[in-house]
Amino acid sequence: MVSLTQVQKNKVQEIVSMMSLEEKIGQMNQASVSIVGGFDVPFEELIEMLTDGRISQGEFTKIMESAEQDYHEEDIRLGRVGSIMLQDAKKANELQKIAMEESRLGIPLIIGLDVIHGFRTVFPIALAEACSFDSDLFLRTARMAAKESRLQGINWHFAPMIDVSRDARWGRVSEGPGEDPFLVSEFAKAKVKGLQGDTSSPMNYVAACLKHFVAYGAAESGRDYNTTSMSTSLLHNVYLAPFKAAVNEGAATVMAAFNDLNGVPCTVNSEILRDILKREYGFSGFVVSDANGIRECVSHGIAINDQDAGLQAVNAGIDMDMGTGIYSSYLSQLVKTGELDERIINEAVERILSTKMWLGLFDNPYVNLEDRMDPIPSEHIQLALESAKKSIVLLKNENNILPLNREQKISIIGELADKSSEVVGAWSISWKEEDCVSILDGLKQNSDNIRYFQTGGLTEPINEEELKHALDFGDVIVAVVGETVNMSGEAASRSNIELPGDQKKLLKMVKTSNKPLVAIVMNGRPLALEWEAENIDAIVETWHLGIQMGNAVSDIIFGLTNPSGKLSVSIPRVTGQCPVYYNHPNTGRPGGKSKFTSKYIDVNNDVLYPFGFGLSYTSFNYTNLNVTEKNDLLAIGVEITNTGKRQGEEIVQLYVRDRVASIVRPVKELKGYKKISLEPGESQIIEFNLPKNNLGFYDNNGDYRLESGEFSIYVGKSSADCLSQTININF
Ligand code: NOJ
Repeated sequence: MVSLTQVQKNKVQEIVSMMSLEEKIGQMNQASVSIVGGFDVPFEELIEMLTDGRISQGEFTKIMESAEQDYHEEDIRLGRVGSIMLQDAKKANELQKIAMEESRLGIPLIIGLDVIHGFRTVFPIALAEACSFDSDLFLRTARMAAKESRLQGINWHFAPMIDVSRDARWGRVSEGPGEDPFLVSEFAKAKVKGLQGDTSSPMNYVAACLKHFVAYGAAESGRDYNTTSMSTSLLHNVYLAPFKAAVNEGAATVMAAFNDLNGVPCTVNSEILRDILKREYGFSGFVVSDANGIRECVSHGIAINDQDAGLQAVNAGIDMDMGTGIYSSYLSQLVKTGELDERIINEAVERILSTKMWLGLFDNPYVNLEDRMDPIPSEHIQLALESAKKSIVLLKNENNILPLNREQKISIIGELADKSSEVVGAWSISWKEEDCVSILDGLKQNSDNIRYFQTGGLTEPINEEELKHALDFGDVIVAVVGETVNMSGEAASRSNIELPGDQKKLLKMVKTSNKPLVAIVMNGRPLALEWEAENIDAIVETWHLGIQMGNAVSDIIFGLTNPSGKLSVSIPRVTGQCPVYYNHPNTGRPGGKSKFTSKYIDVNNDVLYPFGFGLSYTSFNYTNLNVTEKNDLLAIGVEITNTGKRQGEEIVQLYVRDRVASIVRPVKELKGYKKISLEPGESQIIEFNLPKNNLGFYDNNGDYRLESGEFSIYVGKSSADCLSQTININF
């Protein structure tokens, strides 16, 4: 965790020694701003009434206008709240003032918010940003988000989300950096450094929160909040790995996941929270439950009531209760009856106060209301543009149809093209529409020969008349297709991950015209694009890229920037392949020609586009792979040549396979990557020094093992396109 000086540690101890039991429990309570008054039913029921049609949208709006927000001032004054979820600088100052000056011990609030991929400056969703394979970029976008949000009084981000996710049906695939534990770990480390690393001023850093601990991404059938079950070795090798890496980097807090793991909800799972996270990894920050997570243990059927859930959670290692008030209602009584050991409360409070101390909140919890960063400074816009461009992956470019020629007449179709509010992606809550550039607006910056046709096809029926005009006008048709923001993210799992609505039908209608067709796909998850990959001339995977999406897409489409992104996740052919990922264990009957092998009878085994894949407007050739052992390292060299006609960036990927081990190992595992830039005709020798220690794995006792034997080393341009060499290694 974040380190404190001895003086600061003493101060924390001193405060804890002065606190009453109720004040300690107050620190363990996170409140969120609730809506009160004006209506007679709980807010949740009001939402249900709106959803099931008992009240209209108009009636709902009217009720909300008469409602007031409850900021829990009195509870803060009485020392019953340690944290609040809020984004309002003025209100943050007011509440901090109550906490500092009107509560008995003057303990500041830690103010948290979901700042997942940028604050006001929205960057690409994590799944997209990971396609840049650029740790420095991961760090810089996090640092900028920290500074922007800090000005609003927010000092704690519920990020990074580092759930390895391999099932594209799960909506929260969008929030994390993809399917590979190594890439997710690199992302996690860089984000922690970005959020927490610049301590030169308290206004430059926030506490990170690693989430969701753990294995939330393995939700069965890709259905959100669903059960997870897995072996110890899989848990350690894949799902825990990024958390371990980020804890080593000093992450300040961790959020427990909603799901149960092998039958025990993570919220009450002491094996993962106490034994692995706190004891084995030495995590000394604090753990917060997910929203309502403690109460949900009653629905899981592992706690008889709220009190039982609270007791189990605190014993398991949840230091702060997000949003249920269960700790506040029951813990004090449980201590008094001897059912709960007060030392557990003391430990939790020390962890929470230490984090507040490290954040500098005791010295100055306030923000300067004059510092608004409004409008967004130009260097923030530049970083939004840079990150968006680096996140785009060119999937197909038949006959080099891209980049487009500015003189061509271009028909733009597809509902998403002109929607600036759709560029921000899931979990963006602090953006302003005036900052967002739609794809259409971006494309218009680079060409005067563009016309947009409102063909519908996603939320509206196809307008055939408009489509006819589009086909008559354009020398080339650019279709912007994909998902709206609310089709991915939390509680947005899909059982069919093809293009939603009538978009495929729209593309098929264009296809009959024989006009060249480019698809710009904007989405929050991998989509099953088998027909599209066979029939469309060029496909550009753009995900949801944030406020500069339109400009970034335009620069790539017109060739001002050469695409360099590589997939952070596999793209399946059909939904039925999910979960599908490149680093799977081998079966005893690997899929082949023979019937009795591991495959489907109605679809190929391979994915449409593999992890690590991405095209460029130039081409790269790999030669001379050379692997040698040097003491504790493997020295791996490879020569890469730009064989095309323009400068380009290439992400060189290093994979290994442990050929025989005491546990079946993945057919390939990413162990390193480097991004290089080459001029046409230029060659460069790239070297990786891979510590032999990284060739081990966790077994089913959770022990790390290094086993001698044959290892294949692969270097290449994607997980499916590599040079390889096999060597024998003795440990
Ligand atoms: C629920 C989500 O699972 C979590 O990611 C988020 O941080 C909390 N709600 C708070 O909004």
